[in-house]
Amino acid sequence: MMQITKPVSFENVVSMEDLSTEDVLSFIHEAQDFKTGKQIELKRPVYAANLFFESSTRTHTSFEMAERKLGLQVVNFDPSNSSLSKGESMSDTVKTFQAIGVDLVAIRDKKNEYYKDLIADPNVHVGIANGGDGSGQHPSQSLLDMMTIYEEFGHFEGLKVAIVGDLTHSRVARSNMEVLTMLGAHVYFGGPKKWYTEEFAKYGEWMPIDDLVEEMDVMMFLRVQHERIADDENGSFSAEKYHAQYGLTAERESRMPQRSIIMHPAPVNRGVEIADELVECDKSRIFEQMHNGVFVRMAIMTSMLRNRDLIKEEY
Ligand code: CP
Repeated sequence: MMQITKPVSFENVVSMEDLSTEDVLSFIHEAQDFKTGKQIELKRPVYAANLFFESSTRTHTSFEMAERKLGLQVVNFDPSNSSLSKGESMSDTVKTFQAIGVDLVAIRDKKNEYYKDLIADPNVHVGIANGGDGSGQHPSQSLLDMMTIYEEFGHFEGLKVAIVGDLTHSRVARSNMEVLTMLGAHVYFGGPKKWYTEEFAKYGEWMPIDDLVEEMDVMMFLRVQHERIADDENGSFSAEKYHAQYGLTAERESRMPQRSIIMHPAPVNRGVEIADELVECDKSRIFEQMHNGVFVRMAIMTSMLRNRDLIKEEY
């Protein structure tokens, strides 16, 4: 297996802001190698735990799948039956897993930048992969999104990518607008204009969905939170109204360029961001994104195993 970029070695993988263009490409290439059969052999038994203090289906299960494929032993954690209910902090929970012998953890928490305190704590030595922090960063999602785009087009330079939906609360939008710009893509935004703030204007212009669908190489939709589509009277939207004004309808999909693709980090509100029948249409890469998530997370964990000199052989 020949990797064309230098393999990455990271103590922790917590934010896309820490990664250079070379690092991102290296993660993608290593993930592609895992997708085509790369394996590693460990020097000793290595233990991982997935500490998800916020709900998740994809990120949690694909970290676990990635860890098992790498030969790591996975230690279970169920927050609802843990000592969190007795008031134990997230930090003490992480230190507990470290004390019982866990080497690497994937963490999701609702607090933005929760990982900064852990990394700064001299008593925390476990490797931390960020599985999403509040409205901050979602590096494993961002890397799997980049892998999916790279697989499709073979490059990023000059690609037009629209990020459409609930920008304000989206860690996916924040992670992706920065990395796409760094990689040479042109970023655009869509969805309700009230969610397009100065923070996003620095990275790209807002355009109506009817214009975006005709010009973009990638239409990346974001989940609209239920509370935002529940109550018209509070300035939110009904599901039908949101779909008609900002969603991907069959008519809009029919005007997308032939080579363009549809992405969504999921979970998808079928019939809101994207018409139900388009979630699995020819242009959709939504389930391929999930598939790629396993290999990207293998690459993330491998970078931390490499950093700790725990890999005997890569082949
Ligand atoms: N895309 C994503 O982060 O999904 P989950 O919340 O199910 O992990």
